[in-house]
Amino acid sequence: MIPITVVDVADAEPLVLEVLRSGVIAQGPMVKRFEDAFAQVAGVPHAVAVNSGTTALVAAIQVLDLQPGDEVVTSPFTFVATLNAILEAGATARFADISRTDFNLDPNSVAGAVTDRTKVLMPVHLYGQMADMGKLGPLAEEHGLALVEDAAQAVGATFDGKPAGSYGLGCFSLYATKNVTTAEGGVITTSDDKIADRLRVLRNQGMRARYQYEVAGHNYRMTDLHAAVGIPQLEKLAELTEIRRRNAAALTDGLAGVPGLHTPAVLPGRDHVWHQYTVLVDGDRDEFAAKLTERGIGNGTYYPKLVFDYDCYRDHPGVIASDAPVAASVAAQALSLPVHPKLTPAELDTIITTVREVLGA
Ligand SMILES: Cc1ncc(COP(=O)(O)O)c(C=O)c1O
Repeated sequence: MIPITVVDVADAEPLVLEVLRSGVIAQGPMVKRFEDAFAQVAGVPHAVAVNSGTTALVAAIQVLDLQPGDEVVTSPFTFVATLNAILEAGATARFADISRTDFNLDPNSVAGAVTDRTKVLMPVHLYGQMADMGKLGPLAEEHGLALVEDAAQAVGATFDGKPAGSYGLGCFSLYATKNVTTAEGGVITTSDDKIADRLRVLRNQGMRARYQYEVAGHNYRMTDLHAAVGIPQLEKLAELTEIRRRNAAALTDGLAGVPGLHTPAVLPGRDHVWHQYTVLVDGDRDEFAAKLTERGIGNGTYYPKLVFDYDCYRDHPGVIASDAPVAASVAAQALSLPVHPKLTPAELDTIITTVREVLGA
């Protein structure tokens, strides 16, 4: 089986051992080192490490001091954490449709979803390509909205040369299968000194100095053990991303002209970091996926339904569901193929040949 993803953190061993031997295993100097390196990648002065991408999103919303009933406009085509974080932070989620070209929020649809209760615009940079920040940024400004980027899948991506996480409050996931991982973990990036300071206090039980509580906080801390896992990957990120790009280009080349298959587009002005290589299939996506699995090609359906289309959200007071026809059709057609940096040229060929065979091309 050619797996959809491979987790390779073997070169973290020396740093992890250093942490274990130091006895400082919770948040300490290694987290600071990780944060400094991450801030550079995101092109901002501050990176605040936390214990998951979900808590990054929760903390980013919490720090904005929303009132009950305040709305966050986001994408319905995303991992459930986007929605869960909005609800956990006590806000209300409203949805705009996406664009078929980049699978991200469509600025025209966003304009129609903004109400007088909207306080936050939360684009999701899905699969590693940033949303249309050239339009979403000004739109947020026009309506006085805070921008919180769900950049969980987009570390190192850029739009007009500006990195993910530098447009607003950037929220990244460091989950095991992400382009940079600490096993579990997350980061919030910001250029705002005050917000960074408040996030650091919030992360640590609302405590500025020992037993000096400023807000009702939480334990969102990352550990030095986790940070040590991530540091070598940040050092190699440019190189690993370049391999992902080459793999994606090989797939797009090899899959060109297959009837009923639409390869992913890289839109002008955007650097895609290929967290996923996601095609759209015209026929029965699930049958196609099953056939690929049968023939040893790992694949993933991210995501099979709109994020709010589950019973637990049906009558949820914090969820304002709406029609999103483009997102609904994409959810029925999208399938991700392996693009990870461990793929060999022979495996890339096998993926291409097998997809062609299965689709009769
Ligand atoms: C788009 C998106 N948002 C949020 C998250 C949440 O991150 P985590 O799993 O680290 O909590 C993820 C990753 O799983 C994600 O893909």
